[in-house]
Amino acid sequence: LGPLQTRIEEKRRAALLGGGQSRIDAQHRRGKLTARERILLLLDPDSFDEYDMFVEHRCSDFGMDSSKNKYPGDSVVTGRGRINGRLAYVFSQDFTVFGGSLSGAHAQKICKVMDQAAMVGAPVIGLNDSGGARIQEGVESLAGYADIFLRNVLCSGLVPQISLIMGPCAGGAVYSPALTDFTFMVKDTSYLFITGPDVVKSVTNEDVTQEQLGGAKTHTAVSGVAHRAFENDIDAILNLREFFNYLPLSNRDPAPVCECHDPSDRLVPELDTIVPIESTKAYDMLDIIHSIVDEREFFEIMPSYARNIVVGFARMNGRTVGIVGNQPKVASGCLDINSSVKGARFVRFCDAFNIPLITFVDVPGFLPGTAQEYGGIIRHGAKLLFAFAEATVPKITVITRKAYGGAYDVMSSKHLRGDANYAWPTAEVAVMGAKGAVQIIFRGKETDAEAEYVDKFANPFPAAMRGFVDDIIQPSTTRRRICHDLDVLASKTQSNPWKKHANIPL
Ligand code: COA
Repeated sequence: LGPLQTRIEEKRRAALLGGGQSRIDAQHRRGKLTARERILLLLDPDSFDEYDMFVEHRCSDFGMDSSKNKYPGDSVVTGRGRINGRLAYVFSQDFTVFGGSLSGAHAQKICKVMDQAAMVGAPVIGLNDSGGARIQEGVESLAGYADIFLRNVLCSGLVPQISLIMGPCAGGAVYSPALTDFTFMVKDTSYLFITGPDVVKSVTNEDVTQEQLGGAKTHTAVSGVAHRAFENDIDAILNLREFFNYLPLSNRDPAPVCECHDPSDRLVPELDTIVPIESTKAYDMLDIIHSIVDEREFFEIMPSYARNIVVGFARMNGRTVGIVGNQPKVASGCLDINSSVKGARFVRFCDAFNIPLITFVDVPGFLPGTAQEYGGIIRHGAKLLFAFAEATVPKITVITRKAYGGAYDVMSSKHLRGDANYAWPTAEVAVMGAKGAVQIIFRGKETDAEAEYVDKFANPFPAAMRGFVDDIIQPSTTRRRICHDLDVLASKTQSNPWKKHANIPL
């Protein structure tokens, strides 16, 4: 067995070295970690079980069959491991081997971990750093992408899928991250686009840099393609580990419960005065969220995009919850196209993965104007309505101030099967604000009409009298109420009528 053993060891050593020391050095000079360094940082020590270290590409064109063009493991490192003791499947593209480009063999390795993750019920984490399709392999490589896309779709709603973009990701390659639940990027060293700056120049004559076209800033603030961006590889991976702790392993798994040192019955006195008396004055919904959740820890999703809605993960008495809140600080918290889509996708993730939803409402309505109407606010706003309505996870809603018009219905109202709906004393549930309402119904003739309207509608009673909110609560008691509700609702079961799938307005 001697010579055979030697060969095995040699291949393993070669696999560990990827594209060789000089390319590893080049990767480091760019401020990037290698594929293996990333995996080791992501997973708990000694927990990585690698698959397919001996897989090689099978291309023989363009001299690819010469031994110097073969790298054991090819251009991706795959396997499984643990993150804080919990199972995860990973693939990490190796830029040092043919620029991390995707060969048939590379795709096959990724498909293998995805298939197993789906079978056992564990998340898939992709660390992307790739020059795209392996040009020498032609359609073989395109087939590989499609095989991965199909699995992304089949895994959607089954196991959480997370993409971390840590280098180039262009052309067809972008659609795998786009199909996953969360896409995170590394600032300055990662980019995502359909075609690069040169093609853009030749087709549309626009001058644009790689960074402007598809860098982290573009995708987290303008396009909404990416959900968060981090400073560098290490920061991104450490944040990913923290993020992972919020997620269940699969749709068959309850959301995780952590040990909690923050008392569930803690009162939050500052909330009693946080909403300004003047209903046009802004305040920061994040202050409310931070003060209510465990240890003030809130993992915000898309913090720089559609900032008029806030979404993210937190814990209440140790339990993962998904939080949605209108943000009065930005565009008065109006719902518009981007915030509706942002909110809807988040709500659907939480619902698919058994994460209770807590919704804080202060919404003056949908944003008026031709830009919104021409852009299709009706169909996009419907997404958020659809998502809240179909969600069967525990749903708790707190109206802090305005809940006007159709937006009142949308924001996890009682009518959409909210389980616990509360109003703070400052709540105003009405068709619209007093000024606009009086102008319409009295055409400006009446003097006392506005005061009468405010007295009748700009308070929580009309909703509370009809049972549309379950109680009017003192803001300082909100954390306590929500924690108690979550305890009770832990055994909630609710299902929707059988169907192949619903037809959410896209
Ligand atoms: N197929 C095969 N090999 C590829 C490749 C691909 N798609 N992309 C990169 N490589 C190889 C390069 O030939 C180079 O090999 P070497 O180390 O033996 O010289 C290595 O990967 C690194 O690429 P390089 O171009 O030197 O790195 P860079 O950082 O300067 O540029 C890219 C990175 C991704 C911008 C550039 O490689 C590129 O444009 N690649 C093609 C992208 C593309 O159009 N893909 C097909 C569409 S999906």
